[in-house]
Amino acid sequence: MSTATPAGPATPADPDPASPPSPWTRKHLLGLEELSREEITAVLDTAESFSEVSNRSRKKVPALQGRIVFNLFFENSTRTRTSFSLAAKRLSADVQDFTASVSSISKGETFIDTARNIEAMGCDVMVVRHPTPGAPHLLSQHVQSSIINAGDGAHEHPTQGLLDLMTIRRAKGKIEGLTVALVGDIAHSRVARSNIWGLLKLGARVILCGPPTLVPRSLERLGCEVAHRLDDVLHRCDVINVLRIQFERQQRALFPSVAEYSHFYMMTQERVRKAKDDLLILAPGPINRGVELTPEVADGKHSAILDQVHNGLAVRMAVLYLLGGKAPEAE
Ligand code: CP
Repeated sequence: MSTATPAGPATPADPDPASPPSPWTRKHLLGLEELSREEITAVLDTAESFSEVSNRSRKKVPALQGRIVFNLFFENSTRTRTSFSLAAKRLSADVQDFTASVSSISKGETFIDTARNIEAMGCDVMVVRHPTPGAPHLLSQHVQSSIINAGDGAHEHPTQGLLDLMTIRRAKGKIEGLTVALVGDIAHSRVARSNIWGLLKLGARVILCGPPTLVPRSLERLGCEVAHRLDDVLHRCDVINVLRIQFERQQRALFPSVAEYSHFYMMTQERVRKAKDDLLILAPGPINRGVELTPEVADGKHSAILDQVHNGLAVRMAVLYLLGGKAPEAE
């Protein structure tokens, strides 16, 4: 999927004195629910600037020089953890990975005590992934560091929501007025929640599509449309974001079989042919080929899956910069 870069501000490393002040004044990024449209747009615009930095021969900027970023991951991750590490390194921060399975949590130390000990080593920003909804929010009340939610249970995954918004805005040139379907396991998806908040605030129409057991009707109150047959709404979609079935969060079988799920909801070439010519297909990953989408669709021309990963780096640079990137001499 080709991408067009909308005009953004000058790079944060080279600020434009004529730029209006950023609406961003937050210490933490805990979710997209609490962000305004202006704050979301500020992150996306800053990410565009950092995307330009990635094209330079020298990719590092000194924005976080002398700062320490800790990755506290209590759940597995491929994309988010490595993307945050690389983003922090590109901003010249010192980065330390914390691995819960080999930590003193196994000896009974609490989550908060662990974080306080990490902070005592001089941590400035904690990037937190945890299976319990609200864990990053709890930490933000007990430590002085900036907290970034890197996924809390089925609640929110704000940087995934932001990188999805950036990918849509780059491909389509706008968000407002688009129809975006989130397909699959909405009930257990933090990506769905962050996408819903971000897309609605930026003026998109959001369709939540999946089996009745996986689509909470309560989300209609936020202004989303609910559908249970992908084939009924396919032709109206500008973007389809296919979500992974979160088997690890389901307490019981919520549909008869994977084969049945795939029959009704998997993105196939046949469904792509029935959709708009310029349909954009997103998937947050990890993807299950043959369950949520076929290999041909995952690797096909409508797929922006690897663009999402690429844009994730710029989004995470932007978030780290906005939360902690004051030049040391300015302090
Ligand atoms: N999309 C996402 O959060 O992927 P990881 O679980 O690999 O970080």
